[in-house]
Amino acid sequence: MCGIVGYAGARDALPVLSDGLKNLEYRGYDSAGVALCEGGAPTVYKTVGEVDDLRAVLPDASEATVGVGHTRWSTHGEPTDANAHPHTDCTGDVAVVHNGIIDNYDDLKAELEADGHAFASETDTEVVPHLVEAELADGASPADAFAAAVARIEGSFALAMVVDGTDAIYLARQDSPLCVGHGDGETFVGSDVTAFLEHAREVTYLENGDVAVVTADELVVEHDGERVERPVEQVEWEADAAEKGGYEHYMLKEIHEQPRALRQTLSGRIDALEGEVDLDVDLPREYLNSLEEVQFVACGTSYHAGLYAANLVEEHADVRATVHVASEYQFRGGRDPWRTLVVAVTQSGETAETLAALREADRTGARTLAVTNVVGSSVTRLADENLYIRAGPEIGVAATKTFVSQVTSLALLAVHVGRERDELTPTEASDLLEDARGLPGAVQRVLDADAQVRAVAEAYADSDAFFFIGRALGHSVALESALKLKEISYDHAEGFPAGELKHGPLALVTDDTPVVAVLTGGARAAETVNSVKEVESRGAPVVGLCTDGIGEKFVDDALAVPDLGAMSPLVANVYAQLFAYHVANLKGRAIDKPRNLAKSVTVE
Ligand code: M6R
Repeated sequence: MCGIVGYAGARDALPVLSDGLKNLEYRGYDSAGVALCEGGAPTVYKTVGEVDDLRAVLPDASEATVGVGHTRWSTHGEPTDANAHPHTDCTGDVAVVHNGIIDNYDDLKAELEADGHAFASETDTEVVPHLVEAELADGASPADAFAAAVARIEGSFALAMVVDGTDAIYLARQDSPLCVGHGDGETFVGSDVTAFLEHAREVTYLENGDVAVVTADELVVEHDGERVERPVEQVEWEADAAEKGGYEHYMLKEIHEQPRALRQTLSGRIDALEGEVDLDVDLPREYLNSLEEVQFVACGTSYHAGLYAANLVEEHADVRATVHVASEYQFRGGRDPWRTLVVAVTQSGETAETLAALREADRTGARTLAVTNVVGSSVTRLADENLYIRAGPEIGVAATKTFVSQVTSLALLAVHVGRERDELTPTEASDLLEDARGLPGAVQRVLDADAQVRAVAEAYADSDAFFFIGRALGHSVALESALKLKEISYDHAEGFPAGELKHGPLALVTDDTPVVAVLTGGARAAETVNSVKEVESRGAPVVGLCTDGIGEKFVDDALAVPDLGAMSPLVANVYAQLFAYHVANLKGRAIDKPRNLAKSVTVE
């Protein structure tokens, strides 16, 4: 979820691109660059760092009236100058910026290298300019060369290209947004409207599968080789609202981004038909077969992702899995480092206690794996192996999309370990991967039911104590749901394994303590129904997060969770995110920056 900006017009493109990148910086900020068409091959300036670092290497002005720019949030390749966008072909005539992931870049790169193309970066993006170069060398026009290159790539992408000898920007969109702003004799391009909002408010949004060419005064869109018209819409948002995609808070925007985040997490990693996973981590089969324990270390929401994962690893890979609050890890003994894989789960990659736990694991000689959202973060430099969750930047303090992407990445890890240890058959793995593949659609169905969640939140928002219960995978979701609510609403909220209620917490249950129960597949719903009856008999209203046919008739409010096997509780968690959001919003809380909390906790 990087940012793209483009300009074609009559004025100097450089300040337009530079300001556009600054506006987009909230989307990602590990490197930035521009390509300027000054009559000849595009001139590329790029650097690792923030947009201000780029500005330090840019000239004050340029002759260019056409150009593209990019601010990067890494998914392939460390944040370096070479990996920053734009990427060029061997001749330097073609410059490309890209958001998203090209799934088949390995194969394309091998083919292009065999044909003599030299690559300058570790990115997936760089295959595109080389594909275009090959088509141009065969005599294709820039538009045809671009369309032919786009036809060869698989995955998610928003692409913008400039080429020597043209005053056009070539665009393509698949599962990653791209829009065009219409000015007076000038045209703007953005991955979202914040890139150019101060210049243009009439906007055309490209659709999946569109390939387009923009010049100063024209936009030509093709879809499946046919010319199509896309509507021009008027944007009323102010810049702040636009950054939030029109949502009132970043948290809500990020909740709604989850289907896309999940597609990115899964992209190119699963072969559901064959029951295979490719995570690009070096955990050899012999090593995985010698394992006696997988230890997850993490804090907060990431700890809950670890709990979910431990359950999956034990069930599908038949190896002991333990989960440790990172700040407590150093106080535990009894480790056999040679047979232990330590998995640090941290979206930021900067949480001090998780880093300290990882250092401790490293000191004892255990093999370590970091599961993180931030390429190049501190944890990635400490761990032996890295698995990126690819959720895109998360700005709201309350973790939402990173939680679902963490759990999904860890579910893939569980399948990988299970397959390598021969504890999962290809058919069993295939079933699990099909469930994972269903996640973006299932989460979207939950998001589509937002009005219903809001009505439930309105019914209970006056309470100031809430309980969340669940079993097995539903237990980790109960804990995470309670954390989300307490973080942003400041209400007392606790999550419990459903069976524990009667061992104490039941004393707190009254008719003013709503109970949210996870009653999905993968969460022992039939047993949890008994706990629902216990709280109902004490007068508590119950909201059920229910997979079809389980539990609806025992609860006051049922929210339907699509059946996705072991992934169902994760889908249920999205209801809890929305519930927490609406309760907090009804109470007028500072949702994106709750009191006393920080996005990244870098002190112990
Ligand atoms: O960046 P990390 O995943 O290591 O962060 C861990 C916790 O600080 C974090 O999950 C925190 O609990 C969130 N605010 C939860 O919404």
